[in-house]
This record gives sequence, C-alpha cells and structure tokens, in this order.
Amino acid sequence: MSIRILGIESSCDETAAAIVADGRDILSSVVASQMDIHRKYGGVVPELASREHLRQIVPVVREALAQAGLSFTEIDAIGVTQGPGLVGSLLVGVTYGKVLALELGKPLVPVNHLEGHVHAVFLESHIAGITPELPAVCLIVSGGHTLLYQVQPRSENGNLSSRGFLYRRLGGTRDDAAGEAYDKVARLLALGYPGGPVIDQLAARAAASGAPPNSKDGLSFGPVKIKGNPYDFSFSGIKTAVLYYLREHPEFEGEIEARRLALQQGRRKASDLLPLCSPETLSLISNFQSAVVHDLVTRTLAAAAETGARTILVSGGVAANSALRDAFASKSAPLGLNVFFPSRALSTDNAAMIAAAAYPHLLAGEVASSDLNAEPNLRIA
Ligand code: KG4
Ligand code: ZN
Repeated sequence: MSIRILGIESSCDETAAAIVADGRDILSSVVASQMDIHRKYGGVVPELASREHLRQIVPVVREALAQAGLSFTEIDAIGVTQGPGLVGSLLVGVTYGKVLALELGKPLVPVNHLEGHVHAVFLESHIAGITPELPAVCLIVSGGHTLLYQVQPRSENGNLSSRGFLYRRLGGTRDDAAGEAYDKVARLLALGYPGGPVIDQLAARAAASGAPPNSKDGLSFGPVKIKGNPYDFSFSGIKTAVLYYLREHPEFEGEIEARRLALQQGRRKASDLLPLCSPETLSLISNFQSAVVHDLVTRTLAAAAETGARTILVSGGVAANSALRDAFASKSAPLGLNVFFPSRALSTDNAAMIAAAAYPHLLAGEVASSDLNAEPNLRIA
C-alpha cells in the first residue's frame, strides 16, 4: 500500500495543494497563482496575499483531491509549509493543515519550503526515470531566495524519496534574490510583472535575431565582487547600475512610457513588448541576464568542485530561465557533472514538492504537535 500525503503550500503568492504517493508519484497538483492581484503593485503585497490564500485554500485542496480521485479519508498524512515565507500567508496553510489533521485524525508534517524546492528536482528526475547521484550542490534561485546548499542522503536505507537529505549551507544572497533583480529591472524598464519570464524571452529573441550584446556602447556589467565567502551572492548592485544608467540616458523614457501604456492595456506578452524595445534596450536586457546567469553558474560550479559534488540541482522560479539552463548544461558537462532542473511547473512554488519533502519526515516520525506555528525565517541549515 502506498502512503499518500496531501501537501499544502501558502508561503508566498501561490495557494497550492497536491497529493503525492510514496514521496515520488504525483497524483494531483493544483496551484492558484495570485499574479493578477499583485501585478499592478510590481511585487507581492503581503496583506493581499494572505486574504487571497484564505479565499483559495479550501477550493484548491478540494480540487487536488478531486483530480486524484480521492476523498479526505483516503489521505494518510498532511504536509504543510511551516516556513520560510510571509507570516500571514504561512499562517493560513498552517492553521488549515492543523484543523484538517485534527479533524481527520491524521499526522501533520511541518515542511521547510526550501527543502521542498530540493525535492522538486527529485520528483522531476523520478518522472524521467533518472536518479541524481549524491552528494550534490543545490542552487535554490527564486524571487525570495538565492541559496547554495550541499545535499547528502540522510539515511543509507531505502530509495531516494524515503531517505531524506542532510543540508550544509554554502552561501546565499546578501541582498536581493536573483528573481527579485529580474522583477526590479523589469519594473524599471516597464516590462511587467513578474519580470523573469519576459526578460528571458526578450533576451532569447534578441539573440535569435542576431542582435549581439552591445557590451561596448551600452551598459555592461563586470563580475560581481564579494569579499569573504565566495559562494555568497549580491544582485542589488546590478539592479542599481540599471537604475543609474536609465537616469543618465533620458532617451529611454519614450519607449518606457510606450511599454507602460501597453501593459495598462493588457498587452504584456514578450511578443507585444518586443516591437516596443529599441536595440539598446534589448542589449541592456541581454547584458543584465548574462551577468546574473554568469554569476549564478560560476559560483555554483566552484562550490561543486570544492565539495566534490557529482551532481548539480537547480530549483526555484529562476530555474525556468532558458539562458541559465543552457549555461549550466554546457559548462557542467565538461566537468563531468550532471545537472538537474525541475520542469517549469515544479520549478515555481507548488505543493507536490511539499508533499514529497514531508514523506521522509513522516517515515522518521517527525510530526507536528498541536502547537505548530508558522516560522517566517525557518532555515534548513
Ligand atoms: O519560486 P517562485 O515561483 O516564487 C518565489 O519567489 O518563491 O519564483 C518566482 C520568481 C520571480 O522573481 C520571477 O521573475 C522568476 O522567479 N522567474 C524567472 C523566470 N520565470 C520565473 N526568472 C528568470 N527567468 C525565468 N524564465
Ligand atoms: Zn519558493
């Protein structure tokens, strides 16, 4: 008999529920995104996020059960994101999970959201029938996080999904997360929210059209210099460089205004915005993306070399970036490293990864008591 866990995720701006069997087979996964609500503010508004989670949590859980063809009583346990995240958002999931567990008489497993992102990679590789070798280095790169961990098996027994992992923190961002830098640069250039997917597509189209990155005339970014830990990141300087560059070059104002108008009219696809971007803007976007990708890849590969990793795992919203995927693929192969990414759906916040992460903790008896609380600053190492 398989063990079926209902995962619940509400740490940021996605209300999600999923059912995963034995920590690796996704029976259903439902994500209600709040993007349309936060878009006009250019970022997540915590008060609006928790209110929306309250509205969505019950229908999203019901939908996850319906898609899996299961009833509440056929669930063996509930896994819920305890942190890190926005306290008001986390509280909705934690409170709902606690009430549900009590009502059903099922165990409740508190899950670290970051550990969920690590498990997302293993869920994906299970679908592909591949087993990533450990030890690995995992880069978690999203709108809220840019973190590097060493990942090792926690137990020698069982298959990968039941063993659980041990983590050692190697580094993290000292200021903005990489996804936050994408979102802030997109905001400065009036490219909409979230910024990552549009910048990704515009940079790809600029490259496909043969427009080379204009490193001589436009804004170019040198390598990010950081004193101390070589596995730390810093992206606020890149964002500030874009801000100052735009202030010094008023010639960008006209097209920025034109794009703002397009966004207000709901024309926010890359194909809508591309004709409204000058070659100079496309060059700036490409250079920005190259700088971020180069920094993420270089530090991750260095960490992999130093820790003797066999594998690189990349997870979180920015893991969907095509330039990042290409760069990791081309630079890790000559070093004999395998690199794994989740699909787009498993890269961004979802509850399947929470249910998968809950499984080894359930097997180890690590269940919550009735005083479980949300932990906005929870760490895994
Ligand atoms: O993991 P996620 O859904 O939420 C958290 O922040 O936890 O990540 C969202 C972030 C946003 O900052 C978004 O701009 C970025 O991931 N993102 C991307 C891409 N798709 C999403 N960044 C770069 N390229 C992409 N294709
Ligand atoms: Zn996340």
